[in-house]
Amino acid sequence: MAYETLLYDVTGGLARITINRPDKLNALNGTVISELGSAAEAVASDPAVHAVILTGAGPKAFVAGADISELTSQGPMDGKARARAGQMVFRSFERLNKPVIAAINGFALGGGCELAMACHVRIASDTAKFGQPEVKLGLLPGYGGTVRLPRIVGKGRALELLLTGAIIDAAEALRIGLVSRVVPADALLPEAESLARSIMEQGPLAVRSVLEAVDAGYEMGQEDALLLEANLFGLLSSTDDMREGTRAFLEKRKPAFEGH
Ligand code: COA
Repeated sequence: MAYETLLYDVTGGLARITINRPDKLNALNGTVISELGSAAEAVASDPAVHAVILTGAGPKAFVAGADISELTSQGPMDGKARARAGQMVFRSFERLNKPVIAAINGFALGGGCELAMACHVRIASDTAKFGQPEVKLGLLPGYGGTVRLPRIVGKGRALELLLTGAIIDAAEALRIGLVSRVVPADALLPEAESLARSIMEQGPLAVRSVLEAVDAGYEMGQEDALLLEANLFGLLSSTDDMREGTRAFLEKRKPAFEGH
């Protein structure tokens, strides 16, 4: 499929989705949101894709937020529909049973920070900047910022960022746990790729189950989440990959997983 606002490439099982509006700091207009939805479907349905890297084009921005020029004249129902559409697209990445790594190469503001938070792992360049500046526009985040930021960094830190609209640098984002690694800008994509490949070496059904257990279990009470984990543990015990992985350990060799 040809995209107007994304670059989409699959190499050796790894899909790279690049939001490509560098002149507008990769701001999320309606086309980007809808194309991101199509790209999420494309990676979900392509058996040749085992992991995804999401990044922004150019040296300056991952995504500098929703496209503000589309917001000024919106009415209440448009606003709600816009928020729901973006929420659903972001959720489709979060629910993917393939790991999605955000490679944050610059500004991740508003919807950009929200998109990164819907990814499974966040790695930033040392030039990245983060924030939820919607209050400065008389708005609140509409793509999950009030929901995911407290879950990732804790309620107090999240509220400070959400209430002030403050922009923080990569070192601070690392300190509060908003990202898990910070690397020099030119090492960002190689680092994201090497992380993706290190996940791709693991048992693919096990990787899928971890994503499922954490995504569903996070919203459950502890008893239900533990039961889900035990059920998935039991289910994986029916797979050839589990036999191969455990046998390979005992035979002191690398496992050859086949995904069944
Ligand atoms: N929506 C629409 N356009 C945006 C945008 C956004 N969220 N963020 C940046 N742009 C556009 C600018 O309007 C400018 O376009 P122009 O060249 O046609 O005038 C271009 O991208 C470059 O941005 P500019 O503001 O000139 O870059 P800068 O280096 O001076 O500032 C930022 C960078 C990120 C600090 C600044 O662009 C900004 O504050 N953006 C909005 C962030 C925001 O509030 N996001 C939440 C939206 S809900």
